[in-house]
Amino acid sequence: MPPSSSVLRYRRTTPMAAAGAAALLVLGSTPVHAEEAAPIYRDSLRAVDERVDDLMSRMSLNDKIGQMVQIERGAADAGAVGDHRLGAVLSAGGSTPDTNSPEAWADMYDGYQRAAVETPLGIPILYGVDAVHGHNNVRGATIFPHNIGLGAAGDPELVRRVAEATGVEIAATGIDWTFAPCVCVARDDRWGRTYESFGETPDLPSQLTSAVTGFQGETLGDSPTSVLATAKHYLGDGATEEGRDRGDAVVDEEELRAVHLPPFRAAVERGVGSVMISYSSWNGTKAHADRYLITDVLKEELGFTGIVVSDYDGVGRISGNRDFTPEEVRTGVNAGIDMIMLSKNHARFISDLRVEVEAGRVPRERVDDAVRRILTKKFELGLFEAPYADRDLLAQVGGDAHRELAREAVRASQVLLENDGVLPLAPEGGKVMVAGKNADDIGNQSGGWTISWQGSSGETTDGTTILDGIREVAQGTEIVHDREGRGIDDSFRAAIAVVGETPYAEYEGDRPDGLVLDDEDRATLTRLADSGVPVVVVMVSGRPLEIADEVGDWNGLVAAWLPGSEGAGVADVLFGRSAPTGRLPVTWMRTSDQQPINEGDGQEGLYPYGAGLSYDGAERPATEEAGEVPSPLPAQR
Ligand code: GLC
Repeated sequence: MPPSSSVLRYRRTTPMAAAGAAALLVLGSTPVHAEEAAPIYRDSLRAVDERVDDLMSRMSLNDKIGQMVQIERGAADAGAVGDHRLGAVLSAGGSTPDTNSPEAWADMYDGYQRAAVETPLGIPILYGVDAVHGHNNVRGATIFPHNIGLGAAGDPELVRRVAEATGVEIAATGIDWTFAPCVCVARDDRWGRTYESFGETPDLPSQLTSAVTGFQGETLGDSPTSVLATAKHYLGDGATEEGRDRGDAVVDEEELRAVHLPPFRAAVERGVGSVMISYSSWNGTKAHADRYLITDVLKEELGFTGIVVSDYDGVGRISGNRDFTPEEVRTGVNAGIDMIMLSKNHARFISDLRVEVEAGRVPRERVDDAVRRILTKKFELGLFEAPYADRDLLAQVGGDAHRELAREAVRASQVLLENDGVLPLAPEGGKVMVAGKNADDIGNQSGGWTISWQGSSGETTDGTTILDGIREVAQGTEIVHDREGRGIDDSFRAAIAVVGETPYAEYEGDRPDGLVLDDEDRATLTRLADSGVPVVVVMVSGRPLEIADEVGDWNGLVAAWLPGSEGAGVADVLFGRSAPTGRLPVTWMRTSDQQPINEGDGQEGLYPYGAGLSYDGAERPATEEAGEVPSPLPAQR
């Protein structure tokens, strides 16, 4: 049950609400009247800086250090969060309340928040999740295309709208922080996080930082559904050797600045409220230990004033294993990390950092800088005035409007790569075979970071499979579904093979040995091709796969990426309700041996960056000017 005493329905103050709130202030869970002495930090009409100064003047060292900790929900209940004055909680991928429903999420959030608000200073928590393609941990939430598909759509306003809708669904559950967008630049498609990238050049990730505005609004906290966004992972996670996740980006500073820094600069210019540090290294230095990149470049050169948050146990991984040591605590905090994300051991972290501060190895000014950044975002989000979930928003979670937007995004992300005239398919008449392991599997079409960290095959959440969509769009056609394509013969006018990858996330998706079709897909494709029936291949994958030896047997090829819960958007394009407009956000290799392969590197792939056909057969220009990308500043090191 939500607390009975939250004064404002909305979790964010609007000007009217703020005026109304001036008369009533929330101290803990008991409203008091303005005539009683109220500290400056409790007055929502005072400037944020004043409120931060006043609050910090009341905080002990332990209060301050507690604010620098973000703990996984499984390691700390609400009582621990209150007792240790922790600054934030998170749900790691798939870490859901026992009942995975929007209402249960709101109850969980409010429970943690109530414990925080009822501490003596009443500092609310931030609660972070990986809402990276919709509020994707929550069953029933709208699942949007993963970033690589949005990169193929290449539409900053569409991406802003997707993020805005996602923000509504996040806020409905109380959550106030998403670890998105990933603005990584994927350079080697063997990387298991390629699908989290908007593209292989700095152009698309820079332009699509419009997601930040979608999540936060033009100004953080300017609406009841504004949530804190995160540009991640800083810096160079997509540049590692052989695409090894959490590996070493062996590039010179000029390339790091020209290719990987621009999207972060764009995100900072949009006012992104947090930046997450990468597990990876740059020329052998762990990003979590890199004071030059974090403090000198991000905070000083780019002028980032938000929260620098570590990745999950990222500080403990500075030395390689997962658990942190006092030396790693000192190194990460002194490098410029403001909030440390932990799977467990929050109490030991607090005591370790306190020892480092009292010994003078971590300056108190560094702690104050971190806490100032954290409190500033909490005030800007309006959490002190309205800390609890706004349950009026729950009806929009997975609602028709968001699902229609997701379907629009799926349509826009489809890239037509081959077409001998077989497409668009007529929606009326005859028989069409639908085959392939990804035709009728919402888990596969959603990919990783869906309900669970890795995602999984099967009916993992609510939505429409690609087969469901085909049946809806081609009601005048007899649709025959067989996963292996068995029964195909010349009585069919066409066969659609929906193939590709099954879900994975992070290093579980690394394929250093190559990106090939699996045996099941090969067998299905061979069976269909041998029948002589025209074959349309729909590739549901997080990245290009090796198809050069097979594509000659296909009459049509559409890259569908990882469309999410609204598979009907794929059918809209296959049957001509919408023309394909997507363009490749990554070069499609001829063979995996070409990896890394990127625009302008002199290699010739199967399809170039920017490729994409339309139904009038026109080849879209390979790379139109994708808009001004800020030139890199001169190398500093
Ligand atoms: C991870 C990921 C990061 C995510 C974090 C919290 O391991 O690298 O992208 O935001 O954990 O789930």
